[in-house]
Amino acid sequence: MERKLPREMTGAELKSMLKSSINFKSLGGIRCEELNLSPKDKQWWRDAKIGLFIHWGLYSILGRGEWVRYNEKIPKEEYEALADEFIPEDFSVKEWIELAKDFGAKYAVMVTKHHDGFSLWNSEGSYEHFTSYHRGAHRDFVKEYVDACRAAGLRVGLYYSPMDWRFPGYFDPKGLPENAALMKEQCYRQVEELCSKFAPVDILWYDGGWLAHKGSDVTSAWFWEPVKLNKIARSYNPKMLINPRSGWEGDFYCDEGSHEISGKIIPVPWEKNMCICSGCSWGWMPEDPVSDFNWLISMMVNVVCRDGNWLVNIGPDRNGKISKEITERMRQIGAWLSEYGESIYGTRGGPFEPVDNVYGSTYKKDKVYLHILDTAAFEHEIIPKPKDNEILRASMFDSTIVEIQDCQGGFRLKLPKTVNLDTIVILKMKKEVIGCNDTDIHFTGKE
Ligand code: GLC
Repeated sequence: MERKLPREMTGAELKSMLKSSINFKSLGGIRCEELNLSPKDKQWWRDAKIGLFIHWGLYSILGRGEWVRYNEKIPKEEYEALADEFIPEDFSVKEWIELAKDFGAKYAVMVTKHHDGFSLWNSEGSYEHFTSYHRGAHRDFVKEYVDACRAAGLRVGLYYSPMDWRFPGYFDPKGLPENAALMKEQCYRQVEELCSKFAPVDILWYDGGWLAHKGSDVTSAWFWEPVKLNKIARSYNPKMLINPRSGWEGDFYCDEGSHEISGKIIPVPWEKNMCICSGCSWGWMPEDPVSDFNWLISMMVNVVCRDGNWLVNIGPDRNGKISKEITERMRQIGAWLSEYGESIYGTRGGPFEPVDNVYGSTYKKDKVYLHILDTAAFEHEIIPKPKDNEILRASMFDSTIVEIQDCQGGFRLKLPKTVNLDTIVILKMKKEVIGCNDTDIHFTGKE
């Protein structure tokens, strides 16, 4: 049978046709079919829905953001001396993983090396052995993390930044090719180390595959040769998901930051990554306000109803401790998920297109979950009749029956008086629900 080619969609179409506020990063990466995972291989990730992101490193000592070295032009010696002070007291990575579980995450992604070059494992490939293993702490935190994830049944994700501010060649790759080549060599050795030592890795999450703070991961692909790099990564982990930020197109799309999510369902594997706090910094900052619970729940629902995953970042302090405020908020979300998780995990976005700020839906087998964000506005909404299917019953989570009123063009639901945030109505259908599983859209990045 002839293989159907994916439908190509430009950035302008994403915005106009799908009326989307989603802003996918690093679009237009090099294509290489040999590297692509099959939809089946990505299924666990799409079912997992919720992940925990962790930014922790030398910048957590200073508390002024993970870009502090670059932003404040801290001299090399001064910044690198922090490596001898990075000795967390009375800390076990298990604390993070316990919180990940309490939060309801099914996977985690830990920063193993950020743009400052400090590596959190015993890395022989690290230029000048700038690692937590060779310096102050003498600990391999990535190993501790991987072991803790496995013991807790969490899928393992590793964040890695190819670029590294320690190399003058990063800022001038053409003028200082030898130095830039050293940085590239470090990247290849370290990616290979991560992918071999900690195999099987479930997610490889790149960031910072650009050069000299110009252009993008994609325009810097001439330098990094991401297809070659990812072939090495894949040789150790044939089923690992890889994000698009190495300059190769990757296995899923990324939307980054705290902006709201609106528009239609994007039925492709995609992930929103954002901070639990204000988003001013991904690393620890004292008194960074934790986001409001209701706002976070709406964000999660808006992402999942549009078929995305939600990766939420925390920044532990220099001792690896997570603040009381963050811990409480994560547990609060986790408590919500343990009650209503059936409507999130293992679902797909749809079959109804979301109406911004009013409602959206998810479905699994013969059930549709209507997530209602504004009950007053929802009462006026006419929901289209599902195609080739029949609603047998509508009920709340506590089994209270919800009245269905047929009307022209669809039906309305008469909700019991409730002021719950994200009121969920379950529609029990006669047959399995078929969503808009048009996974063959390919976003080109062209405007
Ligand atoms: C942004 C930040 C970077 C952070 C990343 C997480 O690119 O600049 O510091 O690690 O987001 O996705």
